This record gives sequence, C-alpha cells and structure tokens, in this order.
Amino acid sequence: MSATELARSIPKAELHIHIEGSLEPELIFALAERNGVSLPYASVEALRAAYAFTDLQSFLDIYYAGASVLLQEGDFYDMAWAYFERARADNVVHAELFFDPQTHTARGVSMGIVMEGLSRACADAKQKLGVSASLILCFLRHLSEEDAFTTLEAALPYREHFIGVGLDSSELGHPPEKFERVFARCRDLGLKLVAHAGEEGPPEYMWQAIDLLKVQRIDHGIACLQDPLLVAELAHTRLPLTVCPLSNLKLCVVDDLRDHPLKKMLEAGLCVTVNSDDPAYFGGYMNANFVQTVEALNLSKEDVVALARNSFEAAFVDSEQRRRFMQMVSAAQTA
Ligand code: HPA
Ligand code: ZN
Repeated sequence: MSATELARSIPKAELHIHIEGSLEPELIFALAERNGVSLPYASVEALRAAYAFTDLQSFLDIYYAGASVLLQEGDFYDMAWAYFERARADNVVHAELFFDPQTHTARGVSMGIVMEGLSRACADAKQKLGVSASLILCFLRHLSEEDAFTTLEAALPYREHFIGVGLDSSELGHPPEKFERVFARCRDLGLKLVAHAGEEGPPEYMWQAIDLLKVQRIDHGIACLQDPLLVAELAHTRLPLTVCPLSNLKLCVVDDLRDHPLKKMLEAGLCVTVNSDDPAYFGGYMNANFVQTVEALNLSKEDVVALARNSFEAAFVDSEQRRRFMQMVSAAQTA
C-alpha cells in the first residue's frame, strides 16, 4: 500500500473544523431558499467564483456572509450532518467541531437553536455513522472580551452539549491576552481550552495562548518554526498543533504546498495533526488535506501513521477511548 492509500484508509480524528466552514455553496443556496434569505450572488457558480482569497480576512468576510442562511434548528442539523457524512467517507472516526455562536446570536438566532441542532447531529453521527463527535464553542476574537463573557453565560444552560472553548476569527491585532479573563473562567468551569494562534500571527501569540490562556491545543501554530525556543517547548510538552494545509495554501499563508512546514514540524517531534479548517471554502475535506500533503511533502507511511496517532493523542477523549482508537490505527497499519 502506498503512503497515499494509507492516508485515505487510516482511521483519524479531525480536531480543527469550523462547522460553518463546511457549508457547501449548494447547501447555502438551498437554505437561503428555504428561509427566504436573499444572497448577494446570482448562483452557486458565482458564489464559488468568489472563493479567491488573499488572506484570512478576505475569507472571513465571505464565510460570515455564507452563515447568514442558518436560521432554524434543522439548518444547523443539516449542515453538521452533511459534514459527518463526508467525514465518515474519509475514515474520520472522531471529530471535534468548532462553532461560532456569536455569528448567529448577532442575527437574532437563539443559542438554543444552534446548540440543539448541532448536538442532535453529533448524537446521530455516533449512532448512525459510528463517528464520535463533540462541540467546541469559539469566541470571535474581533469582538470584545465582554461579548465573549455574555456568550459564555448564554451557553451555560447547554453546558452538557459542548466540551470546551476556542478562539477564532481575525488574528492580527487581537492577541490571546485580550481573552485571559474569560479563559480563566472557562478553566474554572472545567472546559477544555484551545485557541487559534500562529496562523497569520507571530510566535508571541502562541506563547500567550500557552502562558496566559493555558490552552491544551493550539489551532494552526505554523508560525512556531520562527522561534526555536517555542519549538523546543512544544516538542517537550507535546502540546498539539492542529494544522490545516489546504487552508494555509488558500489563505496565502504558504505560497506552495511543497513549502508547507508540516514535515519540519513532524521532524522536530511536535504533536502535529492534519485537519480541514473550512473544507467547503478551501478545496477539500480530511482526505484531500492528507493526500495532497503526503504528495507535496513526500511523506512516508510512517509519517502518515504518526499523523493519525497524533490526532488521537490530541483528541479530548478518555484514556479507554484513546486506547481503542490507537488500536484501530495499529490494525490499519498491518492490514
Ligand atoms: N482562522 C481564524 N478564524 C477562522 C478560521 C481560520 O482559519 N476559519 C473560520 N474561522
Ligand atoms: Zn480555524
């Protein structure tokens, strides 16, 4: 079996997927029609043609516009269910989904509608597809910390529906330190903590995520190679980095997939994982990310196994579940 074939078939966890970033143009148009929302694009093709991004912000503007069609509980369910079917096809056996409640509550959609729709899809993913799934609530970092506190309060009646919190949206100018107090509160509540850092931002933002927010994983984190001390720290602690190669390419964080730092990060002993970020916008789901990265960086079968094992090492699951996932990887290796 080639490294590419192994990359497709190996069981894996996806830990960095914004569920609103899985909304395909066809579903955006179907939901717009169902809900009577008008879109500033004439057709699916016109919308897809607008997916030519120059940086993170140019993407976020379209991503938030796309999410405007989500109004009812069933919309959130349908979006997540479509993702789970694709994940299952890519041999994703465990997924931790980011969602951005502020994008929806700002439009008058209640927290309950968002939570109920997404968590019902997670329950069905487990029951009908055998994909275990959980939710991570992300605070939008371009908004204030006060707004994040309000969002947390609104989410607490649904505490059993999400396992942790994250930090996403426009990175530059919105350092992790801005959210130190709300993350401290989330830590007291026993929530898992993650944050986007080192996507467009500097290594300093990754240090802040570690030292001030006390995160258990960093999303992206590819800027770490600019800072040897940070690399040494990440290698020592095995703090996981959820890397998204096609996202980095589409948002011009790297110019060519052959220049992507993932292989160097693996060689440095970091707990790096492969993820799709916003697959409907960046040209591919998990296996597209895996396969294109394997081919661009000439990754070996051992590298593929390491990436799959890292995804389960980094997943927020109990030790028994982690052991079962690791056994699935071992079985796929020898198959
Ligand atoms: N970075 C920051 N915020 C995001 C992203 C991303 O890649 N995708 C969705 N929100
Ligand atoms: Zn992301």
